[in-house]
Amino acid sequence: MKAENNIIALIIAIRNFLEGLNDIHLKPFLADWPSANYMTRSVLPHCLPVLSWMPAAVKAAGKKTEVIVKVLASLANHIAWGQTYSAQDFGAGFLEKYGWTEFIGLRGPIASNRMACGFLFLGPQIEYPRHSHEAEEVYVPLTGQTLWQRSNQDWAYRAPGLPIYHASRVPHAMRTETVPLLALYLWRGGNLVQKSLIE
Ligand SMILES: [Fe+2]
Repeated sequence: MKAENNIIALIIAIRNFLEGLNDIHLKPFLADWPSANYMTRSVLPHCLPVLSWMPAAVKAAGKKTEVIVKVLASLANHIAWGQTYSAQDFGAGFLEKYGWTEFIGLRGPIASNRMACGFLFLGPQIEYPRHSHEAEEVYVPLTGQTLWQRSNQDWAYRAPGLPIYHASRVPHAMRTETVPLLALYLWRGGNLVQKSLIE
């Protein structure tokens, strides 16, 4: 099926992109990357309100990350977008501007019980409050102009294509301004479907 082929093409592009970053924190994730049996599950498409910002995310993509953002945008309405939080956690407004889609992991189309990989998507003018989780994590922002905070450090802008590492249980937060945030995420170790602990 066309969508499945496109998902596999995107996963191969993501793997090549991550290898090219040559980042020490990415090495264990790449070692755990599923090596065979791509597309082991079919996942029903599910869209979310945050997808209305996909054209803006394409415009905000970095030079190195543009290809991945464009391929994801072309697939966005044919894949499963989910939310871990409810309105009780961060309010109903947050749910209008938040979603993620998993490609590799316990729920995504490519099965792995060792790691998870997908995309986080946040609309503009929103804060993803401080949270933490057991899994260690690498984010690779694909769009710019978002503020990131690790632990108690100062908020800082992170450029598209530069990995951000969070060790297990290290709290972190993100804040978007005028453009949405699209970021690759990788989780490894611990409970791969855990709801984050809100600080
Ligand atoms: Fe996280």
